[in-house]
Amino acid sequence: MDTLLGIDLGTSGVKAALFRADDGQALASAFFDYPLLHPQPGWAEQRPSDWWEATVNAICACLARAHEIGITAQEVRGVGLSGQMHGVVLLDTAQQVVRPCIIWADQRSEAQCREITERVGAARLIELVSNPALTGFSLPKLLWIRDNEPELFSRAVTMLLPKDYLRWRLTGVFGMEISDAAGTCLLDVQHGRWSSELLAVLDLDPSLLPPVIPADAVAGTISDDVAALTGLIAGTPVAGGGADNACGAVGNGVVRPGLALVSIGTSGVVLAHTNTPQVDVSGPVPRIHTFNHAVPDAWYLMGVTQGAGLSLRWVRDNIGLPEMAVERWAGSDAVDAYDLLAQEAAAAPAGSDGLLFLPYLQGERTPHLDASARGGWFGLTASHTRRHLIRSVLEGVAFSLKDCFSIMREQGLSIEQVRATGGGAKSPLWRQIIADVLGVELVTTDNEEGPAFGAALLAGVASGVYPSIAQACEATVRIADYTAPQTETSGVYAENYEVYRALYPALKPLYHR
Ligand code: XUL
Repeated sequence: MDTLLGIDLGTSGVKAALFRADDGQALASAFFDYPLLHPQPGWAEQRPSDWWEATVNAICACLARAHEIGITAQEVRGVGLSGQMHGVVLLDTAQQVVRPCIIWADQRSEAQCREITERVGAARLIELVSNPALTGFSLPKLLWIRDNEPELFSRAVTMLLPKDYLRWRLTGVFGMEISDAAGTCLLDVQHGRWSSELLAVLDLDPSLLPPVIPADAVAGTISDDVAALTGLIAGTPVAGGGADNACGAVGNGVVRPGLALVSIGTSGVVLAHTNTPQVDVSGPVPRIHTFNHAVPDAWYLMGVTQGAGLSLRWVRDNIGLPEMAVERWAGSDAVDAYDLLAQEAAAAPAGSDGLLFLPYLQGERTPHLDASARGGWFGLTASHTRRHLIRSVLEGVAFSLKDCFSIMREQGLSIEQVRATGGGAKSPLWRQIIADVLGVELVTTDNEEGPAFGAALLAGVASGVYPSIAQACEATVRIADYTAPQTETSGVYAENYEVYRALYPALKPLYHR
């Protein structure tokens, strides 16, 4: 049987999942987590060595599970990688990692964003890379290291993104895959090549950047060492793969105009496929991103809320202690703390009796582009309960997604169908809240494995199993469920959303103090 292995390097952990090539059926998977370090408030780092160790463990465990059902590594036709975007991994001449990776969620580089915008010019920057300088992106992080850790920066000779680092470890070949390269703020997104003008203006050595490579072509093969370590067969093709959001789109069939994706992972995303590199011109600065898709000659528009699953994880870890205790007591295979929290949330009414949550725990990207924004509850009274606190978090994230969705609509894109994905979208309650708040039907596919599936499909195209990404999706992506918006809740959500919208401008001066 031909199979494909997808590896998704997420923020909470890495998943390796094996799929049957002809119909995309998931055969085995394994997940290993690693720590997220916050050395200071607003900072977010991870150790690439932790990623690598977890990836090796995940591949071994996934292959062991596959072996139990009679499937061997010889049947793996290709490996594909998906990864959290925007992280900066620097290697020295001895190919050692210079410092921990500053990941997408990190907000320390506001000064560098201002510097880039001033040196290049706001309008010219958009012409060169289609996006403004944001703390979330890689370039400001790179300049932060140059400004604050000059000794470490001077040792760096290669910059990689998280999943491109993994591909290098698997194959020994350097490359930066295009859908991920788009999120560096150094790529000429219109033409799919590094912006030499931007590099020159910022005095950055172009040799720091590896070649830009396609998502759906073979980028290297599994090395002998990695074969010995993981049980994969040496010489197995490894595809370029894609940014996690691009792979999420591919794995849910969002590969043609008219389709959009709502994703709730650690971050929350609204993404719409486009056939041109359209830029948000609705305000002075584009509030949604224009990135290259994993699909050749295609792009997507994307709004990002920094704290989606991150907000619920904060709730679980800090006010969900009873649920955590029950999960520990029963064992996580039997009971999930998140399911228990959802039951609590469902017991509070839609609109949380006027309690509002701002999900800006890690600053905010769309629509505010403000690293100093902070989270909080508003409207708390003595009659609110823990149930309201939990429900309002789910609703606050949905409001933030509505901010993204509204900007998307303003671009004049015609969106026929919105597909929902990510860990958060597995919750029927959260899906319903999002459908109600956005006022659209949410469609889910039977892809349970998230971006790892999209990565596997890209590996399938690269290794010749499928002729194209569109045909890969046609053969494997199936609709599983529909969540229709309920009209009964639209009034209360519309009222709450109005207050939610007013809170950021009112609080902005205080955030900055
Ligand atoms: C997208 C972004 C996040 C990460 C999370 O711009 O920063 O969605 O990709 O994995």
